[in-house]
Amino acid sequence: MTSFKEYLLVLLVVSCFAITVQCYGGKGYDPLGKIVKAQFLSSKDSKSTESGFATANADQEYSPVYVGSQDELKEADKIESLPGQPNEGVNFDQYSGYVTVDAAKGRALFYYFVESPQNSSTKPLVLWLNGGPGCSSFGNGAMMELGPFRVKSDGETLYLNKYAWNNVANIIFLESPAGVGFSYSNTTSDYKLSGDKTTAIDSYTFLINWLERFPEYKTRDFYLAGESYAGHYVPQLAQFILHNNKITNQTVINLQGIAIGNAWIDFEMGLKGTYDFFWTHALISDETNEGINLNCNFTTPNTSDACDKFLGEADIGDVFIYDIYAPLCLSSSTEPPVRIAIFDPCSDEYIDNYLNIPQVQKALHANVTSLPYRWESCSRMIGGLWNDSPLTVLPVIQELMTSGIGVWIYSGDTDGRVPVTSSRYAINNLGTSVKTKWYPWYIEEEVGGYAVEYQNLTFVTIRGAGHFVPSYQPARALTFFSSFLQGKLPPSYLN
Ligand SMILES: *[C@@H]1O[C@H](CO)[C@@H](O)[C@H](O)[C@H]1NC(C)=O
Ligand SMILES: *[C@@H]1O[C@H](CO)[C@@H](O)[C@H](O)[C@H]1NC(C)=O
Ligand SMILES: *[C@@H]1O[C@H](CO)[C@@H](O)[C@H](O)[C@H]1NC(C)=O
Ligand SMILES: *[C@@H]1O[C@H](CO)[C@@H](O)[C@H](O)[C@H]1NC(C)=O
Ligand SMILES: *[C@@H]1O[C@H](CO)[C@@H](O)[C@H](O)[C@H]1NC(C)=O
Ligand SMILES: *[C@@H]1O[C@H](CO)[C@@H](O)[C@H](O)[C@H]1NC(C)=O
Ligand SMILES: *[C@@H]1O[C@H](CO)[C@@H](O)[C@H](O)[C@H]1NC(C)=O
Repeated sequence: MTSFKEYLLVLLVVSCFAITVQCYGGKGYDPLGKIVKAQFLSSKDSKSTESGFATANADQEYSPVYVGSQDELKEADKIESLPGQPNEGVNFDQYSGYVTVDAAKGRALFYYFVESPQNSSTKPLVLWLNGGPGCSSFGNGAMMELGPFRVKSDGETLYLNKYAWNNVANIIFLESPAGVGFSYSNTTSDYKLSGDKTTAIDSYTFLINWLERFPEYKTRDFYLAGESYAGHYVPQLAQFILHNNKITNQTVINLQGIAIGNAWIDFEMGLKGTYDFFWTHALISDETNEGINLNCNFTTPNTSDACDKFLGEADIGDVFIYDIYAPLCLSSSTEPPVRIAIFDPCSDEYIDNYLNIPQVQKALHANVTSLPYRWESCSRMIGGLWNDSPLTVLPVIQELMTSGIGVWIYSGDTDGRVPVTSSRYAINNLGTSVKTKWYPWYIEEEVGGYAVEYQNLTFVTIRGAGHFVPSYQPARALTFFSSFLQGKLPPSYLN
């Protein structure tokens, strides 16, 4: 039984393998699918875990985090220039390096920080997190999605991304937790302790120390943003920040809002939404859809044999799950793939090449301890060792909604990994009511997507974007992100 279930769940959750070489993390690796599958096969890790940190109350004790001396480290982290960067147009400052989060164990997180080209001192500070678990916010977030550079197909030179999000904010990309990308621990047994809780605590410790290194940002408006499994990281870290602000009676971190995109936030709604999306996008048959609707109850990871049969039939073929209409990056093809969007589906291979060049690592102050493995966009080691992952973080989101910070959920509407339907079902379960009803939003006279404002929550779709929203629809993504930072709904046609 288990082996049959395992087999069908491989079909169910890992649909980017076989002839394709491209996948999130390259080489057919699907970390989010892996954790969903693990939850299906064993409910042990999900059952015992609450979705976040206990709500702060006044007599709760604050556990101080490690704070190290940051003297002169900012200057040392300044990037002179990155190998292969364009000669012109790099009119912003870049920094990168390590922040120690546990000195005794020798655990340090790698970050890349890029300031805004103009008026950076008045622009907000944003922490961007990719998901996985195990995926690099630098390699994926900065170099493929929303950072100032993209890697050319030679794998060695860079070009500027006109729609980079640092046009409107100063952005930190954090490789988290230790074991991801260039982040590491000298106590390698730390890797086995990875999970949602340790990730939130280490990310918080990183921020406290980073703000000591860059003290001019201490009181700046601060936002958290991320995608996919960061649907767990971002709300949990936000909750931890607010909780610690409360028990220390100080705005230690000036959190103003969060945005999570194509975010994995609820197991049941996630899976229900996935199969509905497959059916409404003509990827599975009527019979399979009806069988799933009649037989599957995704409330717990325990599915029945009847349900398993229909899930096994839901084979969508070799579609790139993160953007169902995108071309694949085929190792056999000699011609460049037919482009639907301007986004090159082989981008992650160029990035992998670039970030493993020793001179690039030197320029980035990365890998200073000669790690015994290559840089990978998603760490198989970390993704394979995840200790706690609650089935839902909706209670955490509900708590954030009452805290007064901005809570935005966005979704690229051609993603099949965490589809727009999954987000909508999850939002419906939050029990909030509509404040500004669903409307098309516009950019340059075209519909950029749709938006709806609820009480304490805003939901925005980005039309024609897959999972990696800023990769596929850079202009629309930047408009969405600017609206989020301004706390204003995306523009309707009339204004
Ligand atoms: C890890 O060990 C190396 C080699 O001893 C050392 O240079 C480095 O500073 C250590 N890292 C941390 C975060 O302590
Ligand atoms: C920078 O700030 C100045 C003064 O507030 C303003 O006039 C100018 O338009 C800003 N420039 C940009 C690009 O935001
Ligand atoms: C925060 O304020 C509360 C109530 O005013 C007080 O009891 C508590 O000791 C304060 N905590 C800290 C860390 O100062
Ligand atoms: C799904 O399963 C849960 C827990 O086993 C149960 O409480 C619920 O009633 C079920 N829902 C349906 C529609 O069968
Ligand atoms: C899953 O099903 C098994 C066998 O029916 C049962 O023992 C177990 O308690 C169930 N787990 C959950 C989380 O419902
Ligand atoms: C770190 O550098 C060593 C060479 O010193 C290299 O073999 C290894 O692939 C690099 N690892 C990472 C994670 O960059
Ligand atoms: C919205 O937040 C306010 C407090 O800021 C709270 O009273 C209200 O219950 C919240 N509503 C929802 C639906 O979260």
